[in-house]
Amino acid sequence: MNNPKEIESILFDQSQIKKRVKEIARQIDVDFQGEEVMLVGVLKGAFIFLADLSREIKISTRLDFIKVSSYGKQKQSSGKPSITKDLDMEIKGKNVVVVEDIVDSGLSLNVILENIKKHKPKRLKVCVLLDKREKRKTLVPLDYIGFEVPDKFLVGYGLDFADKYRNLPYVAALKA
Ligand code: IMP
Ligand code: MG
Repeated sequence: MNNPKEIESILFDQSQIKKRVKEIARQIDVDFQGEEVMLVGVLKGAFIFLADLSREIKISTRLDFIKVSSYGKQKQSSGKPSITKDLDMEIKGKNVVVVEDIVDSGLSLNVILENIKKHKPKRLKVCVLLDKREKRKTLVPLDYIGFEVPDKFLVGYGLDFADKYRNLPYVAALKA
């Protein structure tokens, strides 16, 4: 695939991502040894990460999805996000790992975690591919982190700008 001309630079290529996804899967296998986990993907951005991660995990899993209101066409988030698609499955007493593409301010994940905690899971862990740490506005506990990233707008491997570029096989920074 040709790199779109709006791409500034590639941060993580396919093989780097693949290696890191495997490492995270191994950690999850160890942490939940012999138990089952419910993987909760945050739509839409986490769909590719979740697809790859879930296929590397060896312990028993179930899948569900949750969605929060998004940035729309802006590169900045505005106000408190709200849940626009809740869980379909019962998670009371279950092990839950929330799988997200990127944490920026942390507001989206915070709303998601508040919502999930109300359903009283047994254990709740958070797995993010990318951590834009310097943008954090609220404390969010992250248990599994793929890569720490700089404050740039990133696309690819599920991440979008105005719903474009999700299918790029790498993570790249967009030109400002
Ligand atoms: P937060 O609520 O500010 O932490 O934003 C998290 C959400 O915003 C993620 O689920 C992404 O969908 C989106 N987001 C944050 N930063 C980026 C980025 O650099 N590229 C694409 N989406 C982003
Ligand atoms: Mg997202």
